[in-house]
Amino acid sequence: MPFLDELSNTADEIDVLLGRLMPVESAPAKRVIEAMRYASIGQGKRLRPFLVCESAKLFDVERPHALRTGAALECIHCYSLVHDDLPAMDDDDLRRGKPTTHIAFDEAAAILAGDGLLTFAFEILASPETHPDAAVRSDLVGQLAIAAGAAGMVGGQMLDLEAEARESHDLDEIITLQGMKTGALFRFACEAGAILAAAGSQERSALSTYADRIGLAFQIADDVLDQESTPEQLGKQTQKDAEAGKATFIDLLGLDGAKARAHQLVDEACAALDVFGNRAGILREAALFIVERKN
Ligand code: IPE
Ligand code: IPE
Ligand code: MG
Ligand code: MG
Ligand code: MG
Repeated sequence: MPFLDELSNTADEIDVLLGRLMPVESAPAKRVIEAMRYASIGQGKRLRPFLVCESAKLFDVERPHALRTGAALECIHCYSLVHDDLPAMDDDDLRRGKPTTHIAFDEAAAILAGDGLLTFAFEILASPETHPDAAVRSDLVGQLAIAAGAAGMVGGQMLDLEAEARESHDLDEIITLQGMKTGALFRFACEAGAILAAAGSQERSALSTYADRIGLAFQIADDVLDQESTPEQLGKQTQKDAEAGKATFIDLLGLDGAKARAHQLVDEACAALDVFGNRAGILREAALFIVERKN
């Protein structure tokens, strides 16, 4: 199946699953579930769940286990977007082509929807429906907590905000910051298949190298799109990073330099997949998609 069809099929499956996992009718606090659903269902490339599913395929993991793990990760990602858009952070009013959650609801509901999605991710992972082996579930929970927390995405978001206040940034700082704020969730996505299969350390480390490279490449592409795209194309506001003083590769290497760096990272990512031979074809296509995407 062509890559884009595969991606869109997984996106549809994730949407159906999230809808089923978050019923609003029986909820005592309907407004927070409505805000959680608003922030997570419909739109979104679902790239992280797709990477979970494709890494899982390398080890013949059962599809429902991979999908639930992908849905949990997508909950963390969507929570990170809701909070990233808040006035105290990037102060954005458009996300995935519609008003951000704090505009559509209010700030309190958006904060709580983010908190709800964050904790719900771990509820999904802790269920035996995600994997029958408690040791595997515990590994998933532990690794996702590390990826999402202060040593991962949350820490990276802190560094991102702190960097806005500084005049100049160096390459090591940008690599650390972006590796945490964006790379950490990609690392979990790509290692999840190996965790679900309790695979060996060689395969896990190959996927981790692949993830490191595509994580950085993904954020470079996001920063390039901020400069070169339009809100209509992207579904979020553009031309905001430079004005906010964000620490980006473009800032340091220029647009062409950043694009060249992204392609170099894709080559490195694909090379890391050699241990999987032809079975990793889709992951190679995913790496290229990450830098060539238009939204
Ligand atoms: C946007 O992520 C946030 C970043 C980490 C740059 P995506 O571009 O994956 O956003 P969606 O999920 O497709 O909306
Ligand atoms: C956000 O990076 C990364 C997150 C952890 C949410 P950005 O602030 O660049 O993401 P966009 O451009 O708003 O999607
Ligand atoms: Mg941000
Ligand atoms: Mg932002
Ligand atoms: Mg951005």
